[in-house]
Amino acid sequence: MELISLHTKNTTYQMGISKNGFLLHLYYGPKISCDADYLVQYYERGFGSNPYDVGDDRTFSTDILPQEYPSYGNGDFRSPAVNIRNNQGVFGVDLRYQSHRFLEGKYRIPGLPAVYAKESEAQTLEIVLRDQAFDVEVVLRYGVLLELDVITRSAVIQNCGREDLYIGKCFSAALDFVQGDFELLHFYGRHAMERIMERIPVVHGKQCFESRRGMSGHQQNPFFILADRETTEDHGVCYGISLLYSGNFKLEAEKDQVNQTRIQMGLSDEMLDYPLAPGENFYTPEAALACTAEGLADLSHIFHRLIRHHVCRGIYKTARRPVLINNWEATYMQFDGAKLLSIARQAAELGVEMFVLDDGWFGNRDTDDRALGDWYVNEEKLGGTLGELVQQINGMGMKFGIWIEPEMVNEDSDLYRRHPDWAYVIPGRKPARCRNQLVLDFSRKEVVDYVFGQISSLIDSANIEYIKMDMNRSICDVYTAVGGCQNYGKIMYEYVLGVYDFLERLIQKYPKLLIEGCAGGGGRFDAGMLYYTPQIWCSDNTDAIERIQIQHGTSFGYPVSAVGSHVSASPNHQTGRAADIQTRGVVAMAGSFGYELDLSLISDEEKAAVKKQIAFYQRHWNLIQNGEYYRLHSPGKDRDIAAWNFVSEDKEEALLNIISLSTHANAPVSYVKCKGLDPKKKYYCEEDGRVYDGSILSHIGIPVPDVQGEYKAWQYYFHVCATD
Ligand code: DGJ
Repeated sequence: MELISLHTKNTTYQMGISKNGFLLHLYYGPKISCDADYLVQYYERGFGSNPYDVGDDRTFSTDILPQEYPSYGNGDFRSPAVNIRNNQGVFGVDLRYQSHRFLEGKYRIPGLPAVYAKESEAQTLEIVLRDQAFDVEVVLRYGVLLELDVITRSAVIQNCGREDLYIGKCFSAALDFVQGDFELLHFYGRHAMERIMERIPVVHGKQCFESRRGMSGHQQNPFFILADRETTEDHGVCYGISLLYSGNFKLEAEKDQVNQTRIQMGLSDEMLDYPLAPGENFYTPEAALACTAEGLADLSHIFHRLIRHHVCRGIYKTARRPVLINNWEATYMQFDGAKLLSIARQAAELGVEMFVLDDGWFGNRDTDDRALGDWYVNEEKLGGTLGELVQQINGMGMKFGIWIEPEMVNEDSDLYRRHPDWAYVIPGRKPARCRNQLVLDFSRKEVVDYVFGQISSLIDSANIEYIKMDMNRSICDVYTAVGGCQNYGKIMYEYVLGVYDFLERLIQKYPKLLIEGCAGGGGRFDAGMLYYTPQIWCSDNTDAIERIQIQHGTSFGYPVSAVGSHVSASPNHQTGRAADIQTRGVVAMAGSFGYELDLSLISDEEKAAVKKQIAFYQRHWNLIQNGEYYRLHSPGKDRDIAAWNFVSEDKEEALLNIISLSTHANAPVSYVKCKGLDPKKKYYCEEDGRVYDGSILSHIGIPVPDVQGEYKAWQYYFHVCATD
């Protein structure tokens, strides 16, 4: 069998071309240097279908063989990665290998986010498969990032024939494993409690995880881990798959009749019936895959590096983000210019570097049932022009940022009154409202053009250095007023392309602008968004204790630099829980750090703590943002402690963070073991003035101080003072 192999530093991915042109998946895992074709065993199975051209060979069955890109309708009755139909009611394709080639550098995808790398850092493999009857070609593209141990996948579907075709399903990646007893780690949630990790066995039948909300969603994140049963944080084989896409997606895990496992991921097939005219191409979003034999922490580090260096772009991708103050939880929409200035003034005095004006500054927006779409400043409310407000903020030594929600419209807005057909509404039906708003049809270029023009004039009107781009509802009632029913099967995909187009224009026109993504908190927290916005507001839940769990789940697939995290008021507005300023600061510092409260309302002692926190963050931001993040004690039921540490890549410094989650009388002493330190180095701890061996910190750790009261926090900063 002819083999095609991809190697990264520590992994191998191998495919084989069967004698009759089926592209078989042979192996993905820790690095090998031999042929893996022996793994595929050929047995006759009852009710297995045999391709016509294998003749009498009943051991060759598409229903059993591991496929590289399984298609519907060719006798593989497991879930397919691709399904295409024509106008005559023929469903399915019979894809056979045509050719392949290797290219230097990493492929790009028009209109969609994609991992990028220097030409010397990556290679591209393209494999062409063809269905004779439809005259359609599927080009499987693989990006190989050697040093990073990442392989990306995406597919291009090309209609080379003379008839219209319709794509009903086209995943980005499929992986067939001939053996294995796997578990799946997925990240589910809800508004204000996103990305909770759940580890479940892969069982016989099909398990499916998806979003149909038009956004990646609070309820299910498009990042998954497949792990051996025995895999832990520190040991064992595991695979990660992250979809660079912010709309409807699906992951399928299927254990078949002979215990083989298929994992595949890509666009959701719901509402997908993409029309592909002769000569047209369709591009799937990209999936990034990684594998390690070193456990979940190592897998997370691969994705952290990938996102920091090969997904996020612009000047802020590794640079320090300004410590910000956001007025949302301080005022909600009830503010005036004087109130904003007083919040800003107090923040500036304590060392905050940027003021962010959240929702409520435009049109007549005092409540959430109006003005979305009217992106002009309410000067009466601000008591002057935006330029004047920004000048005053800049005069305090702070940058200025502003909130927008460009994809949305309220019925009570000038925009909706002028263009009611720009919102998703099905003729003859009343649309579902959500937070009193409707969704603009971003699949239409003229809509994106208009909104971009409005937002661009806003940015040009003042010294705006940051944008928080929000999105506060899921999408339904989908109907487009242009193109009619021909278009309905592509709207959900083209909507996302419209959002990406909007963002791409923004970053091209304003390359110095820092954009923070947001969707009712972390409802669109995905690697696709991070291509445009290097940080995303992680959750509308700012309760430090609940945030620990949200940030813990998020850390499996996303770096700390991606996580917008703020200190808010105590008692917390979402939970009513009280936590002291130190605890709130330590938790928010495991992210792109900021404040979201009226700092003039806190005590002098707390103000002093805020000043110290900011100085501490400014000193250690590089270690936090660009260092390696280790989960130590996971939060969860019956846990007394949560802990994590950061270690610089050269292992010269580390920052240990501990939070007590409960308090007990006469409690046994708990010890928190650090991870990632060099056991041969000696570390000086600034907090207690002691010198520790890296090995004792890793094997026994630091005793958690005796706790009086709930939710206390400690930070220990270590730096190397000698090497044995
Ligand atoms: C939802 C966001 O997550 C909040 O931070 C805030 O910006 C509100 N929207 C404003 O409407």
